[in-house]
Amino acid sequence: MARIIGGLAVSHVPAIGRAIADNRQEEAYWTPFFEGLKPMQAWLEEKKPDLAVVLYNDHGLNFFLNAMPTFAVGAAGAYENADEGWGLPVLHPFRGDPAFSWRLIESLMADEFDLVTCQEMKVDHAFCIPLELFWPQGPAPVATVPISFNTVQHPLPSAKRAFKFGQALGRAIEREASDRKVVVIATGGLSHQLEGERAGFINKAFDQLCLEKLVSDPEYLTRYSSTELVALAGSQGTEILMWIAMAAALPAARRLISQNSHIPISNTASAAMLIEPD
Ligand SMILES: [Fe+2]
Repeated sequence: MARIIGGLAVSHVPAIGRAIADNRQEEAYWTPFFEGLKPMQAWLEEKKPDLAVVLYNDHGLNFFLNAMPTFAVGAAGAYENADEGWGLPVLHPFRGDPAFSWRLIESLMADEFDLVTCQEMKVDHAFCIPLELFWPQGPAPVATVPISFNTVQHPLPSAKRAFKFGQALGRAIEREASDRKVVVIATGGLSHQLEGERAGFINKAFDQLCLEKLVSDPEYLTRYSSTELVALAGSQGTEILMWIAMAAALPAARRLISQNSHIPISNTASAAMLIEPD
């Protein structure tokens, strides 16, 4: 039987991809961020998961504003990266597991999530950078299932819906008959806003509240509407939806193994965390 052995989350700012490409991890600006990932990298090295379900938001590579699915699940044998215009190196294709994906999709649909299913799906920096961060030695040694959330074009799924999606994902993985060790990875945030009068907005107090509640009581975060999340976390801070879903996928009995937060990376409040079922 498949089981979730851990939940991870990390920011996916494109500048991180640039720092990796240029080997700048040891520079003073970057050290507080990259050093904080080492316990998570060591944990993955020790636990050796077989498969990663990656909850991220596509920023216009595979989906654009003309057709934006609320939840889209990959069911391909491989997922290609492509040039998004950031000047980042195009990475190797990531390995998929279509049979596993389809069983997840069937379970999520049975739980009344009406999904877009993608037998072809390009993955952008929000998917690639976290895998580069968690497995810095090279291609992540796991099969992957990308799941894209719409955090870009309103109306977004609510925090409550993201929480329920995570719970359904947890059940779907539990129902999986094959013996796999699964990690659920959320990517994005924390608070940031890239445009308008509040460009550069960061809310450290709200980020700290989120980091605490994601471990102790993620359902607490479902009280916020999308509008409230934008007000509290910035227009791109809505990427917290994936973190909420990751936390909801884990059993209620869990413990924090490692956490790191650092402000700023680019103009974003960055963070990373690792939670393990107890
Ligand atoms: Fe993003």
